[in-house]
Amino acid sequence: MKSLFLVVIAILSSAAAAKVTYNVTSFGAKGDGNTDSTKAFLSAWSSACNSTKSATIYIPTGTFLLATAITFAGERCMSSAITIRIYGTLVASSEYNAIANSGDWIRFHRVNHVTISGGTLDAKGASLWSCKTSGKSCPKGTTSLGIYNSQNIVISGLKSVNSQMFHILIDACTNVKLQGVSISASGVSPNTDGIHLISSTGVTILNSKIATGDDCISIGPGNTNLWIEKVACGPGHGISIGSLGWQLEEPGVQNITVSTVTFRGTENGVRIKTWARPSHGFVTGVVFQHVTMVNVQNPILIEQKYCPEGNNCPNQVSGVKIKDVVYEDIHGTSASQVAVKLDCSEGNPCSGIRLQDVNLNYIRGNQTQPAVSSCAYAAGTASGVLHPTSCL
Ligand SMILES: *[C@@H]1O[C@H](CO)[C@@H](O)[C@H](O)[C@H]1NC(C)=O
Ligand SMILES: *[C@@H]1O[C@H](CO)[C@@H](O)[C@H](O)[C@H]1NC(C)=O
Ligand SMILES: *[C@@H]1O[C@H](CO)[C@@H](O)[C@H](O)[C@H]1NC(C)=O
Ligand SMILES: *[C@@H]1O[C@H](CO)[C@@H](O)[C@H](O)[C@H]1NC(C)=O
Repeated sequence: MKSLFLVVIAILSSAAAAKVTYNVTSFGAKGDGNTDSTKAFLSAWSSACNSTKSATIYIPTGTFLLATAITFAGERCMSSAITIRIYGTLVASSEYNAIANSGDWIRFHRVNHVTISGGTLDAKGASLWSCKTSGKSCPKGTTSLGIYNSQNIVISGLKSVNSQMFHILIDACTNVKLQGVSISASGVSPNTDGIHLISSTGVTILNSKIATGDDCISIGPGNTNLWIEKVACGPGHGISIGSLGWQLEEPGVQNITVSTVTFRGTENGVRIKTWARPSHGFVTGVVFQHVTMVNVQNPILIEQKYCPEGNNCPNQVSGVKIKDVVYEDIHGTSASQVAVKLDCSEGNPCSGIRLQDVNLNYIRGNQTQPAVSSCAYAAGTASGVLHPTSCL
């Protein structure tokens, strides 16, 4: 009886483990750097997606050109899971207009249980950056990897370089894990945010390294249950909740943890930023802990008067309510004297701010000087070692 039972278990588990594999080269992809492999990738996806088993798509070593924008759609997939195992590099056309108005270069839409593992994405964004910085009129640019309306996603060991705009965008997704991701673009490349999150829940970002010309991680409206741990950021503009509060009706940001991160030479460290506009948005339940700052311009920053050029902000007051934000064990060096700046909304002051063991020194040239903190409309408590002295 018992052995029959074990045999049944063995048969069931081997059926569950049944897998099919597809190699993009069998569909005509060529890793020679100049044959457009877009169609071959789509055919491989279509086969994997039609399979009733769990499927793996192999992208071998070599350089695969994806000359135009590509969408992997999951609505009609029958497979229980799809793994895309990348050994090589996917490159965009060096002519930026080939993808610059597409929204995303590589897009996943309505997929479930998809893992992207290894590989490099090179969107060849430099020519678009120089167009933008020259002041000419240029296209907005495209996100390298955009994932929309999807669940149970793993992105592991992926490297993204030189995006035109955002490197990775997670929009309206649930249960997404990014680990061992490496992102790099020039420190002066415009809008090349590392990872941008919108309206997603249960996103985890672990053990990743991000160097960009904009935010390393930016957290837009509607994100909840986000966990960021062991991330190195720099150069870049730091980790930012916001910009929030552009819309009057906007979903809030809730339950965000940023732990064990290092900022090196960045414009900001941990920032919350809201437009000085009417909004019913909110930020609540945020923990920033075990953070090392190395030569960071604005290590701890809440700015609720964001209104570049002073346009579109009729009352100059943000409606976004910021509540229950903890800064715990934040240490290192500030490149400006005001190391802690909590500039909250006059109409909707911050409450429940907690500073605990914040130890930041201002390094000016080669001298260490005391840093200062600055508060406006911010209430809360402070404890432990506090350099600069708390202004709460
Ligand atoms: C995929 O096909 C290429 C070319 O035939 C081959 O070199 C590579 O080893 C294959 N990869 C896998 C994982 O089967
Ligand atoms: C996958 O299935 C769809 C519709 O069910 C069909 O149109 C398509 O040709 C199939 N693709 C492959 C590669 O079998
Ligand atoms: C907050 O988010 C974490 C994941 O980041 C999750 O484990 C936890 O359950 C969430 N807490 C609440 C109250 O939802
Ligand atoms: C500090 O920097 C200045 C100018 O760069 C230099 O002249 C001076 O020797 C430095 N002092 C120390 C103690 O290194």
